[in-house]
Amino acid sequence: MKKKIFGLFIFVVLALFIAACSSESSGDADGKTDDAGKDNSEGGSDSKGEVEIFSWWTGAGEEDGLLALIELFEEKNPDIAIDNAAVSGGAGTNAKAVLATRMQGNDPPSTFQVHGGEELNKSWVAADKMEPLNDFYEENEWMDKFPEELIDLVSSDGNIYSIPVNIHRGNVFFYNIQVFEDNGIEVPTTMDEFFAAADKLQEAGTIPVALGDKESWTATQIFENVLLGKLGPDDYKKLFAGEIGFDDPRVAEAAEQFGKILDYVNEDHASRNWQDSAQLVANGEAAMLNMGDWAKGYFANDLDLETNVDFGYFAFPDTDGEFQVITDTFGLPKGVDNPDDVKEFLKVLASVEGQDAFNPLKGSIPARIDADPEKYDQYGKDTMEDFKNSRLVPSLAHGSAASEGFLTKANQAVNIFVTQRDVDNFIQALVSAAPEM
Ligand code: GAL
Repeated sequence: MKKKIFGLFIFVVLALFIAACSSESSGDADGKTDDAGKDNSEGGSDSKGEVEIFSWWTGAGEEDGLLALIELFEEKNPDIAIDNAAVSGGAGTNAKAVLATRMQGNDPPSTFQVHGGEELNKSWVAADKMEPLNDFYEENEWMDKFPEELIDLVSSDGNIYSIPVNIHRGNVFFYNIQVFEDNGIEVPTTMDEFFAAADKLQEAGTIPVALGDKESWTATQIFENVLLGKLGPDDYKKLFAGEIGFDDPRVAEAAEQFGKILDYVNEDHASRNWQDSAQLVANGEAAMLNMGDWAKGYFANDLDLETNVDFGYFAFPDTDGEFQVITDTFGLPKGVDNPDDVKEFLKVLASVEGQDAFNPLKGSIPARIDADPEKYDQYGKDTMEDFKNSRLVPSLAHGSAASEGFLTKANQAVNIFVTQRDVDNFIQALVSAAPEM
């Protein structure tokens, strides 16, 4: 008797369970939203036609390009919702930490911003967290639409793991044209010319170089450009490949020179972020700014300045003919519930139309080789030419040249160097961090 009652109980429970399931699925078929029974994870990873885009593109100078891309996607895919999950902080200062926690907790966003090179390969590919996209590239005939060097940066062991949306250049100085004219300054091409110009500006009471190293990557970026000038592209790459040590005398010379540049920056540099430092150049308080060309997007689109009228640009002294490559890419993490929806987003991001919507606002050039140069201003056109004709090197500050572990330590060492100016300590810190590369 007891057995019969127990059997009946099990039957009723099962019947209720099946009924509940079928009503849920009929609810879906009707297109009704039904949150019943879903877990509480924040990732939005349930398959409900939503793509969560994770990046650090928020606010002025950062988000305009992404919003244009999202708008284009929504026009083409009205049935797929976008969740723009951006975490503020230049160069991914905060976003990368949030991403790491989510990836470790198996709660990946549908897709996320990641620099081509070691940031992608040593972090997420090595941890087996990314889907290979070779077939996706073949199906969409993308293999010859992106420069080989970029495909290499997003590949590991013959597999391709992400799609580049842009190419930023890191070894650029932007300058205030009026300030240069007022002080009779010519565009410097060597470090000696640069320091001569800086002296002249300082004597005239103008801040020669704007810096905002509240987040220390902006100073690391200056240092990597000095390193490039000192070592040249081949040895610069060897340094990050571990074939030349950080105790090479040229690295110490680069540190000295970096320290000398720091003598010409605004006093309040430690309390400014990159946009705040760019404003000093925009309003004429400072003359020059070394910044990746997202600063061009900020000047032109957020501050309404005109390229080659209000601001000009030149290659970081001693690095003409070289191109510090920074490429933002997006891939498909393993374990995402709706990979087909995510791929629809990746298709828009990879398309000529997508890249030409995004890049003119972002200040970058398109990663695709068949984009329309007429959509870009003179800076963009010049940079496209420079990219084709330069020696390309990977940026340290923006994740391509070395692992995240090394970059974190390099940023800390730079931060200490900016205040202490102790070359020996700085070199020692880099030498100790090198095994992490
Ligand atoms: C870089 C990124 C750029 C831009 C910049 C400032 O790392 O590649 O797209 O966002 O940081 O945040």
